[in-house]
Amino acid sequence: MARSVAIAPSILPADFSRLGEACIELEKAGADRIHLDVMDGVFVPNLTFGPPIIKSLRPHVSIPFEAHLMVVEPDKLLPDYVNAGCETVMVQVEACTHLHRTLALIADLGARPGAVLNPATPLSTIEHVLDLCDIVLLMTVNPGFGGQKYLPSVEPKIAELRAMIDERGLDIDLEVDGGIGAGTIEAAASAGANAFVAGSAVFNDEAGFDHAIENLRTLAGN
Ligand code: DX5
Ligand code: ZN
Repeated sequence: MARSVAIAPSILPADFSRLGEACIELEKAGADRIHLDVMDGVFVPNLTFGPPIIKSLRPHVSIPFEAHLMVVEPDKLLPDYVNAGCETVMVQVEACTHLHRTLALIADLGARPGAVLNPATPLSTIEHVLDLCDIVLLMTVNPGFGGQKYLPSVEPKIAELRAMIDERGLDIDLEVDGGIGAGTIEAAASAGANAFVAGSAVFNDEAGFDHAIENLRTLAGN
């Protein structure tokens, strides 16, 4: 059951003193949702923003927020992200000792649960919790920084996950994150992804957000 194409711009490349304006512009430009890269300086070397900043952004736009938590021990933080207004909360499977419990907790809090896999992490880590996921995010770079080079070596994993989702008849977004742009989105879509995070490709498009998002959507197939 393939879902329609979704473009989720990451605000990681934005001017952090003007995050609200960036969200407003992205919504106007047709973004399906805003991707929030939360980094704790431990799971990944970089440090970004937490619930108070997300909460302050929430009233400015009506499209959904998806939090990508690149943090250790995410469980204790989950209520804060849901209360801040994140419709979707995604955790790195490498950071979860009890992934089943963590995904169930996100659902109990009223958000859409998601699992994120680093390029080196096999699909077997989510095989038995797929029924708890509304979205699975496959990293196509190693997390921590924007502007990295897309790893085509993840494409067989995208295809394998697409087959797993379709065989089980699940209604799950298959999202990819990292190095997604005009030169890479077609390959990721062909492999089976239907949702696409894009940071640099959106913020560096000299023709503007509208052009970037429309172009990515067209290249992804709708
Ligand atoms: C990396 C983040 C990505 C990243 C995407 O840790 O999860 O969301 O910012 O940025 P680009 O599109 O520039 O690779
Ligand atoms: Zn991300």
